[in-house]
Amino acid sequence: MGELVDLHGRRILYLRVSVTNNCNLKCAYCAGGTIAHTYGNRENHLSSNELIRVIKCAAKLGIKGVRITGGEPLMRDDIVDLVNGIAALSELNDISMTTNGMLLSHHADALCRAGLKRINISLDSLIERKLEALNGASSLRILEGIEAALNAGFECVKLNCVVMRGFNLDEVIKLASLSIDRPLHVRFIELQPVGCERNFFLQQFISAAQVLQIIKGEFELEPIERADEPPGLGPARYFRIKGALGTVGFIAPVSEPFCISCNRLRLTYDGILRACLAYNIGVDMKRALKGGDEMVEEAFRRAAMLKPLGHNYACIAEGTYECPFGNMTMKEIGG
Ligand code: GTP
Ligand code: 5AD
Repeated sequence: MGELVDLHGRRILYLRVSVTNNCNLKCAYCAGGTIAHTYGNRENHLSSNELIRVIKCAAKLGIKGVRITGGEPLMRDDIVDLVNGIAALSELNDISMTTNGMLLSHHADALCRAGLKRINISLDSLIERKLEALNGASSLRILEGIEAALNAGFECVKLNCVVMRGFNLDEVIKLASLSIDRPLHVRFIELQPVGCERNFFLQQFISAAQVLQIIKGEFELEPIERADEPPGLGPARYFRIKGALGTVGFIAPVSEPFCISCNRLRLTYDGILRACLAYNIGVDMKRALKGGDEMVEEAFRRAAMLKPLGHNYACIAEGTYECPFGNMTMKEIGG
């Protein structure tokens, strides 16, 4: 069975699978501003069996890692069984999840036992009232979730912080210091103009390089050899605060695009195999699932062929920004 390679020679190794568009939070950056929240119509969702079938075909095509996303994946009732089913596919060596952490303290052990290897948890602030205002989250509950994840025995626990100028820039030192005493990998992510309102993006964006400078002003940061980076197939660049158990990472899709090394496809909760985060283009996997596995595999090949060479965020810097993503939000695409 041939590998999945796109028109630009990029090998597809990573499948992000959004298992629901339901979410228990309302983040300004994820589905915020004037863009309305759409709440899940369960009928649209791919079933567990359909998801497992798609992932099995992906593994046959050389996909090495599957990341379960949402919405909030823990909102899905059958999430532990689903992880179990995916983990039973022996060809896959990396199964991970991105979660907002609010329900994690109840699920961490079961997910780990079911075969989930790695978990990435959103933590945008340590200040209760700020998070409450941003999205209705509670930092205390997320911290409980992080604790549960550390105790459950995952291979790796990463934290995701979307840095926003007027919201949490003053907290990056505190957040970075979470990597010192525990094996936590704290990643600072640039705000992307996907699913957030234009003015919000323009006002709140701050580059990863600027955040790195702030952290360097406080801590001695050491570069890390590739082999010593935390496990992952994503675009983060990592450093270590001298003597720390964990690392700090930076994801800079806007100021330092990494599209040239993009290795992923995204399956949306309603069965579109999406070629790129930044463009509404993809292949109808739900339709392919009505046929045999060869149809599913063909859908993967077609989606790979649709991958554009790069995103289109530059138009924002030029001031000619118009939301090129239709009404799709991060919450619907799965990050
Ligand atoms: P691992 O490295 O395997 O742990 O995964 P990851 O860091 O790619 O996954 P995660 O879901 O934690 O990604 C965090 C955030 O980084 C996403 O929500 C996006 O904001 C951003 N990101 C990750 N991958 C991409 C990508 O391919 N393109 C863009 N533009 N942003 C991405
Ligand atoms: N820009 C960057 N990252 C985003 N996420 C959601 N919306 C955005 C955005 N506009 C990511 C964050 C969060 C995950 C669920 O989705 O990394 O942790």
